[in-house]
Amino acid sequence: MVVVMAPEATEEDVDAVVRSVRAAGGDAFVSRGVSRTIVGLVGDVDAFDALNLSNRRGVLDVVRISVPYKLVSREHHPDRSVIRVGGVPLGPDTLTVIAGPCAVETPEQTLAAARMAQQAGAALLRGGAFKPRTSPYAYQGLGEDGLRILAEVREETGLPVITEVIDPGTVELVAGYADMLQIGTRNMHNFALLQAVGAAGRPVLLKRGFAATIEEWLMAAEYIAQRGNLDIVLCERGIRTFETATRNTLDISAVPVVQRLSHLPVIVDPSHSGGRRDLVLPLTRAALAVGADGVLIDVHPDPGTALCDGDQAVPPSGIPELADAIAILSPLMGRTLA
Ligand code: E4P
Ligand code: PEP
Repeated sequence: MVVVMAPEATEEDVDAVVRSVRAAGGDAFVSRGVSRTIVGLVGDVDAFDALNLSNRRGVLDVVRISVPYKLVSREHHPDRSVIRVGGVPLGPDTLTVIAGPCAVETPEQTLAAARMAQQAGAALLRGGAFKPRTSPYAYQGLGEDGLRILAEVREETGLPVITEVIDPGTVELVAGYADMLQIGTRNMHNFALLQAVGAAGRPVLLKRGFAATIEEWLMAAEYIAQRGNLDIVLCERGIRTFETATRNTLDISAVPVVQRLSHLPVIVDPSHSGGRRDLVLPLTRAALAVGADGVLIDVHPDPGTALCDGDQAVPPSGIPELADAIAILSPLMGRTLA
């Protein structure tokens, strides 16, 4: 059950709802969004019915939710949400391109990749400073030095920055530099991390776990929402299947499925899903055609020297075709390029 507070509801009104729910033996989690506050109730629904919450001061609506992911579900929020990252919208009317290097390596490489991203139509810059690697011997990223480089490149280009955070202990540090925090596929089930980013006061890009069902993915989003942060964007980045020709299998049907189940924006990562640069353009076209709200693309000024995921990085020669596809397909899908 979810209690939607009226825009004019006071803190006292919210507290009164929370107190009543707790007195009835349940628990209540308050999520304060930009335009409204909602209270998620956990416990005996019949006991909550008896509280007559819809008649309380400041309560706009009380909605019974049949799915386990309550705050991110479309049942209580039929309109699809628009999330803003440094002023850039992600939502149903726009197509938002996020691009940049897989990993921040040097200031020059990051700036060159950011310029490529802009040429491709990107409004947001991606880049990893803390890299989650399969091998402990592989490049792990520059850490805080990488965050500083991202901040400098944001200053230079005006592009807000999205970067990954891989453990709860560095959430505050990363949030001090980033406009949006990324949770990668490997950490989608890291519940302590999800709760930490839920409380960090920054929008979150939540990638789908490579072996997660859609319901598990939405439950991970619920962990973030339950801590009071509803500024979440979901990213389909491919799942592990029996197929070995591609790095992962892009579950393109997840996009419309999730858009029906959740009000959150859904974007696609055509780079990590295919794992091959020749697939980035066709998978980007597929993402736009299926109705994704954005794409997240790896680009690199010299992929042959990349310290992480060079095989899937679009080189400078690939940018014009990518930019054309995005510019042509966005209006065809009824979207404005953000
Ligand atoms: C990238 O963004 C990830 O860190 C990368 O895909 C890691 O994969 P690998 O460590 O298996 O190369
Ligand atoms: C990334 O986008 O940098 C990344 C690590 O991707 P994923 O978590 O999808 O593998």
